[in-house]
This record gives sequence, structure tokens and C-alpha cells, in this order.
Amino acid sequence: MTPAPRCAVLGATGFVGRALVADLAAAGRPVRVLARAAAPGFPRRIGVTLGDATDPGALETVCAGADVVFHLVHSLGHADFAGRDRAIAQHLAAAAAATGVRQLVYLGGPRPSATTSPHLASRSEVAGILLDGEVPAIALQASMILGRGSAGVELLSRTARLPVRPRPRWTTRRSRPVALADVRHYLRAAACHPPLRGRFDISGPETISYDGLVRRCARLLGRPAALALPSPFWSHGTAARIAGLTSPVPAAVAGPLFASLEHDLLPADTPVESVLPPPPGGPTSLDNALRAALGVPVPPAPAGPAYQEERTRPSQAAPHRLWQAITALGGDHGRFPPAPAWALRGLLDGLLGGPGAYRGRPHRPVAGDVVDFWTVRHRDDTHRELVLTADMRLPGDAELTLRADPAGPGSLLRQRVRFTPASPLGHAYWHLQKPAHDRVFAWLARSIVRDAEDRP
Ligand SMILES: NC(=O)c1ccc[n+]([C@@H]2O[C@H](COP(=O)([O-])OP(=O)(O)OC[C@H]3O[C@@H](n4cnc5c(N)ncnc54)[C@H](OP(=O)(O)O)[C@@H]3O)[C@@H](O)[C@H]2O)c1
Repeated sequence: MTPAPRCAVLGATGFVGRALVADLAAAGRPVRVLARAAAPGFPRRIGVTLGDATDPGALETVCAGADVVFHLVHSLGHADFAGRDRAIAQHLAAAAAATGVRQLVYLGGPRPSATTSPHLASRSEVAGILLDGEVPAIALQASMILGRGSAGVELLSRTARLPVRPRPRWTTRRSRPVALADVRHYLRAAACHPPLRGRFDISGPETISYDGLVRRCARLLGRPAALALPSPFWSHGTAARIAGLTSPVPAAVAGPLFASLEHDLLPADTPVESVLPPPPGGPTSLDNALRAALGVPVPPAPAGPAYQEERTRPSQAAPHRLWQAITALGGDHGRFPPAPAWALRGLLDGLLGGPGAYRGRPHRPVAGDVVDFWTVRHRDDTHRELVLTADMRLPGDAELTLRADPAGPGSLLRQRVRFTPASPLGHAYWHLQKPAHDRVFAWLARSIVRDAEDRP
């Protein structure tokens, strides 16, 4: 059996570094970290080298004896961050070669296309220096990493809480934000892989603008939609100065982050999945990445008296086929039938300030994911049960449960709608919409059964 690789982590006290050290320690890897000051909170058996990454001697000390070195340092708060990070990368490449390191793993940003922010140019320059070094280096390139404690998420969640906010042109630029959980997965995987060289993009499953991210955050936080004012003269500098005064993120850090939004931050290099295995269960959806980053759990079913209605429908399809039809609902290819009725409902919801009907769906929706106008509350593949909660504007909580049970040679679709009124208006709503509701949900059940029976 090959022994566990010995790892060294630079930037271990940062947002990504702390999470990575915890993972490596939990996996039983021998770990040493470089820290500028005594850093409490690391597991006892983590070796700590006190020192600064600008010091070549400190780098040699932390690299000595390591098979894999993770480079997670950046100098964003400094006026000359590019010069410092260039020097650190050069010293690190030399220290790794001198001490016999097997693999360098660097986490940076997407490779800039044309004119770009100094921050992204610097991150890319660091990648270039390490890739040109003697020791095999892998540069993992991510746009925004969504996790608790990141400067980017802090700025995002504060903006999402504003009732009125500026919307400068640069907030319409698009990126592929990725969950911290998925980044951790790839960093861990890189440590166990035979030596690799190259730039690889780590990107989340959804392309979205910064403005779209703010709106998505607001929805998850249960905030009403803010008034977004077109603000052509709202510069990165202004935004950063205000962030510095109103949030724990210093203006010197916020400025380069906002400036990197000047262009789309889309993956342009080789996807990381071409060399490292994807996370088990697939990539984390944007909604679940944001939920974890903002600390917003999937809302549980409310307690209290509820209207409930259950219908069953037999199917000749095997239970697993019926389950496939249930879990294929939503998105462009699985629009909830009858489509005109849901489209109308979505239009009305949009007018009322709700999310509207069609928001797509991840490849394999799990709890917390969005499926058009619903959020998955619970998914149970063993009992073939999917519980969805309606995100549309309603005077109460509406829950739809779809279940595929075995029945004789075929199966039985169980469809349950549960509505918990939040006010007297909720009671009136339930009774008023009931005739239309009965038709729509009967149609939905028929369509699911037909889809299951048509499946090869
Ligand atoms: N966060 C994101 O959304 C994101 C997105 C894409 C890529 N990345 C990349 O991921 C990496 C880690 O980012 P992060 O968000 O975890 O950063 P972070 O939270 O700001 O942490 C930076 C780390 O670098 C350390 N550091 C800075 N200068 C140092 C020096 N001279 N000597 C020793 N340590 C030094 C800091 O130590 P102290 O605690 O002593 O300050 C801290 O541990 C970076 O390369 C970044 O470009 C991050």
C-alpha cells in the first residue's frame, strides 16, 4: 500500500485553507502548515511552521519532507500585491525543487481573456511561474468560491439585504461560481493523483451574473426583491470604499474583487473533470452552494393544521420507470404539465414579485435544489419519494409529494398536495383555487404515468 502523501499548506489560516487542512487531517494525511502568527483551532497533530511566505527560508522549512504542497496564499490587501505574489511564487517553485516536493497544487482564478483586472492577471502570473518550475504543478482555476466565511460571500450577502441597490454595468458580467465543498473535493483529489501539470478550470454547474447572484441570495434569505437602480457611474472604487466602511471586508480586498467583475469570468481552459474525478453525487447546485455559504437550511414543512389531498393513479410501468418520470420533471425537457396552466401561474407570480415559473433544474435534483417554481424539500431514492415545496408567492406553504410505489406487475403513483395557510387569506385561497387545482393536479398525475409508460 502506498503511504498517504505528506502535505504542506500555505495560506492555511484563510477561507479555503482552513477547510482543506480539516479535510486532510480527517483523512489521516500528515500535514504541516505555514502560518504568520500562532493560529489556534488546528487539530493537535498539525505541524505549524511560523513564518512568512515572502521568506525563502520559511518556504524551504515548510516544504521539507512534503510530497504535495498547496499554495493558497494571496496578498490582496497590499498595494503591490502582484509584486509580492510573484516573488512568493518564484521562491516557492525554487523551495519545492530544492526539497524534492512531488506536486504543487495552486488555487487561482480563471485565466483572463483580454484586458483584465490586475488581480486576475496576477493570479494567472502565479500559475505561469509555478507551471514553468521544475516540480509538476497544477493550477486549479475557480471564479467565485461559495462557502461560509469568504470575502466574496460576505459582500454578496450584504448587498442582497439592501432594499435599494445600485446596479452598475459590471454587475451584469457572468461567472460560474462553485461550491466550497466541490473545491475541497478537487484539492483532496489532486493530492492523491500521480503528478500532474497544467491549468484546469473548476466551475459550478450554472452560469450567472453577479446581479443574478445577488437576487438569488436575496430569495434564499427570504428578502423582498430590492429596487436595483442602473448606476453607470458606480465604479469599483466607490463600491469598495462603501464595502470597507459597512462590512468586515477591507476596501483594499473588495476593490480588486469588484474590478475582476469587469469581464465575464467563464472557464476557458481544460475542465478539471478531465483529470480528476467529479464529486460523488455530481457538482453541487448553485442553490445548495449558496445555502451552505449563507447558512440557510431547506425550510422544513410547517407545523399546524393543513389542507391535504391525495390522489393515486396506477401505472403499468415498473416502479423505477415511474420514479424516473417523477424525477425528470422540470427544466426545459420536463415542463410541468399542463404547460399553459403553469405558464400562466408563473406569469402571475412574476407580476407579484415571485420567482416565476421556469428556473430550470439541476441534472439530479436533491434537497435544497430548485426545480422551476419548486424547491426540493426531500428526496428519498430508496422509497422513491420526492417532496417539493412551492416557491411561488402564496398565502401559505404548499407542498407536493410524488411517490412511486410497487403495485402488482406495475406501480402506483401517489400524489399528495398539502397546503398550510399562513393567514385567513390562505383559507380563502385554498377554497377559491380548488376547482382549477383539481384539474391541474389530475392532469399532472396522468402525464407522469403516461411518461413512465412511454419510457423504454
Ligand atoms: N475565495 C474565493 O472566492 C476564491 C476564488 C477563486 C480562487 N481563490 C484562490 O484561493 C486561494 C485562497 O483564497 P482564500 O479566499 O482562502 O484567501 P484568504 O481567506 O484571504 O486567505 C489567504 C491566506 O493567505 C495567507 N497569507 C497571505 N499572505 C501571506 C504571507 N505573506 N505569508 C504567509 N501567509 C500569507 C493568509 O494568512 P493570514 O491569516 O496570516 O493573513 C491566509 O491564510 C487564493 O489563491 C485565491 O486566489 C479564491
